[in-house]
Amino acid sequence: TPVLILNGPNLNTLGTRNPEVYGTQTLADVEASCRKRAAALGLEVEFVQSNHEGELVERIQQARERNRAIIINAGAYTHTSVAIHDALEYAELPVVEVHISNVYRRESFRHHSFISPQAAAVIAGAGTLGYEFALEYLANNH
Ligand code: DQA
Repeated sequence: TPVLILNGPNLNTLGTRNPEVYGTQTLADVEASCRKRAAALGLEVEFVQSNHEGELVERIQQARERNRAIIINAGAYTHTSVAIHDALEYAELPVVEVHISNVYRRESFRHHSFISPQAAAVIAGAGTLGYEFALEYLANNH
């Protein structure tokens, strides 16, 4: 059963989007590093990106049957989406919340997360390596 790695809005623009904050790796680079790290850990991954809140909700609902855990960077929906919070609750899976940037040293509207109450672990500010740390965590704890 694969781990679902779910990316929310604007993460398809990684590499060109504000590289000072998000680095120069593209989402395809992140996917490649995750697949490599997962293979080394004996995990399978499904890697998904969507700019649409409802599509993220549907993918999380399906994860309940399809996946063993969820790694989620919900992008800006982190700070707004009760619907994603509720879908994660329904999924009843271990969740790791990832943010590439350290949201706590940025604007105050990034300091609240609707995802965190559903997360076993939260990784922020470690850059795109955070996704790999999340895989390490899941391989060791779930
Ligand atoms: C982000 C932080 C969010 O505040 C922002 O809206 C993003 C990316 C991060 O990975 O640092 O889109 O989740």
